[in-house]
Amino acid sequence: MKNLKVISTKKELKSYLKSLCGTIGLVPTMGALHNGHKSLIEAANKENDFVVVSVFVNPTQFGPNEDYDKYPRTLDKDVELAKEGGADIIFAPSPKEMYTDIYFEEKETTLVCPPYKYVNRLCGKSRPGHFDGVCTVVSKLFNLVKPNRAYFGQKDAQQLFIIQKMVEELDFDIEIKKCPIVRELDGLAISSRNTYLSESDRKKAVNISLALKKAKELKDKGIKEAQTLIDTAFSYLEGFDVDYIEIVSLEDFTKIDTINNKALMLIAAKTPETKVRLIDNMEL
Ligand code: PAJ
Repeated sequence: MKNLKVISTKKELKSYLKSLCGTIGLVPTMGALHNGHKSLIEAANKENDFVVVSVFVNPTQFGPNEDYDKYPRTLDKDVELAKEGGADIIFAPSPKEMYTDIYFEEKETTLVCPPYKYVNRLCGKSRPGHFDGVCTVVSKLFNLVKPNRAYFGQKDAQQLFIIQKMVEELDFDIEIKKCPIVRELDGLAISSRNTYLSESDRKKAVNISLALKKAKELKDKGIKEAQTLIDTAFSYLEGFDVDYIEIVSLEDFTKIDTINNKALMLIAAKTPETKVRLIDNMEL
């Protein structure tokens, strides 16, 4: 196993990276690492000489009533998992290290804001400002680490689409790598937020992936009307507070009514008891 270095300041990160010679893969995370994150680290390890994993619960991407304060912070465990995945560096800055004073004084900072068209729907609609925060912190990480490749999970499909667009529109010279969703044995997409689930909600949470699977089955049998597939998926989510079920084109992420090309079904729903907001998606 490699020797993993934990770095918490930008200065040390920059000087350490300067001493390295080879390609760099970056895996941006908010920590509470699990096997989903590990698969990204492993992919980065296969394709690069060095792997940097960032662990930073980014305040600018959380809304005022969201779970910023209670988001799990488990750096010691993260170090172990990142090591197993083959990481060389964990960059784990504090918020004060990452953002300058103006953010703490005025709650403002220079932001990277994706177009309204990308953010006014799906997760962006129920989480205003979320993708501005994501694009801002990811841009900062890109500038600090200067990776050759950066790894993102298909689990956060809208995030991945927006980051691909950002890289294209802002001319970042970085290859974005899309990694498949890692699931629990019963099919539930692994997420750091699964730890919030009560026992009964954990059992019911599997219905989200079942709903997606059923829709895919029907699509494979020849049903092309998005609404029919959405109604079927919805019927699996009794008791859930469904934020959205939508089918989009894999190409440009626009909503589609009839599936003729590659499409993606996305679901966001709050669980019946603990009201944990879970997201998942599947290619149809
Ligand atoms: P976080 O939720 O920690 O996720 C970090 C990366 O892991 C994301 O690219 C996400 O899609 C991926 N991931 C999470 N669960 C996964 C799973 N079950 N299978 C495969 N990949 C999975 O996403 C963020 O952090 C933040 O928004 C971040 C990009 C780090 C910016 O702060």
